Amino acid sequence: MTSNVKISPSILSADFSKLGEEIVALDNAGADYIHVDVMDGHFVPNITIGPEIIKKLRPVTKKTFDVHLMIEPVDKYIQSFAEAGSDIITFHPEATPNTEQTIKLIKKFNKKVGVSLKPNSNISLIEKFLENIDLILVMSVEPGFAGQKFMPDVLPKLKKLKEIINNKNLKIDLEIDGGINFDNCKNAIDAGANVLVSGSTIFKQNNGDLKKNISLLRSS
Ligand code: DX5
Ligand code: ZN
Repeated sequence: MTSNVKISPSILSADFSKLGEEIVALDNAGADYIHVDVMDGHFVPNITIGPEIIKKLRPVTKKTFDVHLMIEPVDKYIQSFAEAGSDIITFHPEATPNTEQTIKLIKKFNKKVGVSLKPNSNISLIEKFLENIDLILVMSVEPGFAGQKFMPDVLPKLKKLKEIINNKNLKIDLEIDGGINFDNCKNAIDAGANVLVSGSTIFKQNNGDLKKNISLLRSS
């Protein structure tokens, strides 16, 4: 049986001194997407990578670049991230004065639109935009760092979103991000997630056996 669950490994837990090789290894290990966490030291208390690095990494794989922007303001950087080769551009509604405008901007560059909800962010922030988005990223940790503990309190929100998506007959990917491991991934999938982001579990468990870890998450 083939699973419909997609795995989006976060390169935040990769060895940054050889990012290109790490992405090739994820590609060969069966990753569906490559999750790129972009942090600005302002919207979140950590700084990671920008569009120039994404552009350099783009040629190493054909896999979908699932770019999670944790930056504020966001609009003025959309063009750079689009031109760098992002496929899905996800932003936080709190990081823009006008969510509709940011959605339009991402679409203008023919990229898939993702919106992300932090653990305490309410569905009402995005509800009226659902017809225009491709992906919802539900955060199960406070954004900022890899290796944090999964917050099961977000599961009801995931369930609710799944219900809304089904009722409205929409085609939206539901992605969960933060603290995903072999024990909680089934709960996330049962609650409605069809894309799992994982950094530490994929890079650190089973002595970093990427293939094994990806397939264990997928088949749970
Ligand atoms: C947190 C990031 C996540 C995180 C995933 O702000 O958005 O993508 O790094 O890493 P783990 O799986 O270690 O929680
Ligand atoms: Zn992320």
